[in-house]
Amino acid sequence: MERAEDAGVYRLNEGMAIIQTVDFFTPIVDDPFVFGQIATVNALSDVYAMGGRPLTAMNIVCFPVKSLEISVLRDILQGGLDKMREAGVVLIGGHSIEDPELKYGLSVTGLIHPEKVVHNHGARPGDRLILTKPLGTGIISTALKRKVAPPDTVAAATRSMTTLNRSASEVMQEVGVNACTDITGFGLLGHASAMVEDTGVGLVIQAKAVPVFPGTEGLAEAGLAPGGLQRNRDFRQGMVDIDPGVPAWLSDVLYDPQTSGGLFMAVPAPKASLLLRRLREEGIDADDIGEVVAEPKGRITVS
Ligand code: CO
Ligand code: CO
Repeated sequence: MERAEDAGVYRLNEGMAIIQTVDFFTPIVDDPFVFGQIATVNALSDVYAMGGRPLTAMNIVCFPVKSLEISVLRDILQGGLDKMREAGVVLIGGHSIEDPELKYGLSVTGLIHPEKVVHNHGARPGDRLILTKPLGTGIISTALKRKVAPPDTVAAATRSMTTLNRSASEVMQEVGVNACTDITGFGLLGHASAMVEDTGVGLVIQAKAVPVFPGTEGLAEAGLAPGGLQRNRDFRQGMVDIDPGVPAWLSDVLYDPQTSGGLFMAVPAPKASLLLRRLREEGIDADDIGEVVAEPKGRITVS
């Protein structure tokens, strides 16, 4: 593989390739069933980002048997199964170990036609940038851990994190895009940077057009930032120019590590309104947040 992609692609023959990915993490919500759902939706997301169809999955479980009721694990696995069923994915196995810190996730295998793989690179000047889910899950789950998150905010983020990127991916394949990635741990600006790194294009993002969960502003202004946020900024700020007019809380949100975030696509401008209309018909509240530019190459400009 020549560069970091969302998942590994292995070509089986002329018409078929498999996509493989793995992801697991510690709980970010209190309800074990919902955590299982989120971890599963998140693990399937890399397959959807490449335009593939997930087929099978294997559970990965790290569980503190001495300190937690086994019913907690049962609920997590039920939540996972619930989303696998919705996605049409078959659970074919798994592995669990005893660990002082609870973790859950999946290894996922999907299918795709080798010529239909959507890469995270390939954006062309003039493309519009479309984002399919709001940002803020890292800040919101940090607030939740400290018990200061407004219930409405948590409900909105939870709804979003438990929503499969499947229909977004299907619409993307139907309309045709030049590039796509899913927004996860590196935050919007981290994944946007990966999209343009070592390419002949740059991105311009309109900060005010970026969708953010209601209530996130207050939490970000109160300094509720997960550790990953500053790491994301340190890692990528050399590639990013943020207009001084962009409020500090919003620039935090742009670096906020996301769990089970949306798809971020570069679509040829003439197809952008069709893509947005089709996404909205599928109940996805997608937004046009900027464009791909020829200059400055390899850079993200936030205005
Ligand atoms: Co990804
Ligand atoms: Co590639």
